[in-house]
Amino acid sequence: MTIQKLSASLASLALGGLLTAALPAHAADKAPDISKLPPPATKTGITFDEHIKKIIEPSCLKCHSGNRPKGRYAVTTREAFVKGGDSGKPAIIPGKSAESPVIHFAADLVLDMEMPPVDMRQDFPALTKDQIATLRAWIDQGAK
Ligand code: HEC
Repeated sequence: MTIQKLSASLASLALGGLLTAALPAHAADKAPDISKLPPPATKTGITFDEHIKKIIEPSCLKCHSGNRPKGRYAVTTREAFVKGGDSGKPAIIPGKSAESPVIHFAADLVLDMEMPPVDMRQDFPALTKDQIATLRAWIDQGAK
């Protein structure tokens, strides 16, 4: 290797390091900021069939049902809603709403994984704070 080539590759290494340091880490790499979550609702006796279905119906169901649900994630049954999809991780951790990806995504805590997707909210409304609070309470009560 010539001196010129060596110094050129050293320079690009240094530049690469600078760029990596200057760019913010991708939000998905960071732990979601759960201090931004609405607190769980105080209501008890929340069930999937009675309370949760009607929250997810207008905002999630169309994409997450049928033969080819988006992200291979269906929200049509309690089991599927909890299980998750392509990520291979559970979407809901019963008893732990603040650690459940569904809550992080619905509360827009994860960049590029906002649910419903931000550019589709004309047709699929974002969940309200009250709806997120109810979902949280349901998860914390065991996601029955
Ligand atoms: C307009 C279509 C659309 C709507 C509406 C929508 N999603 Fe999604 N969802 C997607 C797409 C596309 C993906 C796959 C994105 C990816 O993996 O990058 C996805 C992925 C997910 C995942 C990740 C599953 C996994 O394990 O990989 C979860 C959880 C999720 N959505 C929850 C919801 C919830 C909850 C709602 C309603 C509040 C919702 N989505 C509404 C399109 C939608």
